[in-house]
Amino acid sequence: MKAIKITDGIYWIGVNISSNDLFEGIWPIPKGVSINAYLIKGEKTAIIDLVRDWASASTYLLEELKSIGVSPKNIDYIILNHLEPDHTGDLRAFHELCKNAQIITSKKGVPLVKSFYGFEENVKGVGTGDSLDLGAGKGLKFFDIPNVHWPETMATYEESTQTLFPCDAFGSFGALNGFLFDDEISEEDHRSYERESLRYYANIVGPFSNFVLKAINALGSLAIKIIAPSHGLVWRANPGRIVERYKNYATYMNDFAEPKITVIWGSMYGNTEVMLRSVLQGIASEGVLTEVFRVPHDHISYVLASVWESAGLVFGMPTYEYKMYPPMRDALGQMVLKKARHKKVFRFGSFGWSGGAQKEFDAMSEKMQWDMIEPLEFQGAPTEKDLEEGFARGAALAREVKKIPQKSTEFVNTN
Ligand code: FEO
Repeated sequence: MKAIKITDGIYWIGVNISSNDLFEGIWPIPKGVSINAYLIKGEKTAIIDLVRDWASASTYLLEELKSIGVSPKNIDYIILNHLEPDHTGDLRAFHELCKNAQIITSKKGVPLVKSFYGFEENVKGVGTGDSLDLGAGKGLKFFDIPNVHWPETMATYEESTQTLFPCDAFGSFGALNGFLFDDEISEEDHRSYERESLRYYANIVGPFSNFVLKAINALGSLAIKIIAPSHGLVWRANPGRIVERYKNYATYMNDFAEPKITVIWGSMYGNTEVMLRSVLQGIASEGVLTEVFRVPHDHISYVLASVWESAGLVFGMPTYEYKMYPPMRDALGQMVLKKARHKKVFRFGSFGWSGGAQKEFDAMSEKMQWDMIEPLEFQGAPTEKDLEEGFARGAALAREVKKIPQKSTEFVNTN
């Protein structure tokens, strides 16, 4: 593997992971993920973020350094924007090769360097307002961007090339299959890549959306030519595109998202599914973009991505043991944790013998600032009248969702 030159004196030394492992032990990555690390050469040499030893990543990083004639022992600074082990897991082994390198991280990162890796000496905490001169015209500035994605996160900015290294911010799932820059892929690939950005955002960053907006604001005064995040594409042709994308994603937590409906359903014996068909027909009669997921069959990672982007949600599930159908409780619990707020919502289902699902649903979603359409429950199988009502309420929800203005120019209604 060879390092890739990003701009004058700056190189990508990351790795593309193809693995059946789950990211964070939770999220599937069928299209892989990149762990981006960078090297900056002035008179002094700095490395920005590392990798974890995952799918031979550490070996690739060393090969990439070798490809540009850099020996680890000549590295002066290891800059850790964020201590999560996907970017630092290799720190102990790598530091063995450059024992004199100073570790630089945010002030909140310093104790984490000790607790994760045992380093206390030659570790420096920096923050907004601090800088580091590497010589030969290369100078770094540091900016605290807390909670994007954990409290200690910072961004590093190289002044001469106007390159921003924001770590998880502006990142994405999806390995970089032979390309690295935003101008190396087609518009069609950008659309597919945007789906993986959305999923990454909804799975990893979503609940911290207000911090994302603060970070964008804090970095807003910088002249930025290149955004080099720690996951996904390096943006050199149009860095504003990923900033705008993230701004829209963050806004979805605080306002109705896009005019789209995500339908999540689960059924034990098919009675809820019969109603589902009528509700879907009602929505379709109004021409609103719809994505349908069945729980527990579909992975919550994809459900969350669709939910995040949608102004409308439909939940179809029966009562089970006086409560919600358990896989739906799990899915709803994830939506609550990820703060998928401000939705127009319709819930339906068979109440079986006793009912109880609606009560639990209301309690769990109480703080989500969801506008509820009157729920529809029926005993056993739905009657013709129930099905007509399901059609009508699906259409009513769709009419509400149609009123929501589209926010992102990248949102595509394929209906
Ligand atoms: Fe990519 Fe929060 O680590």
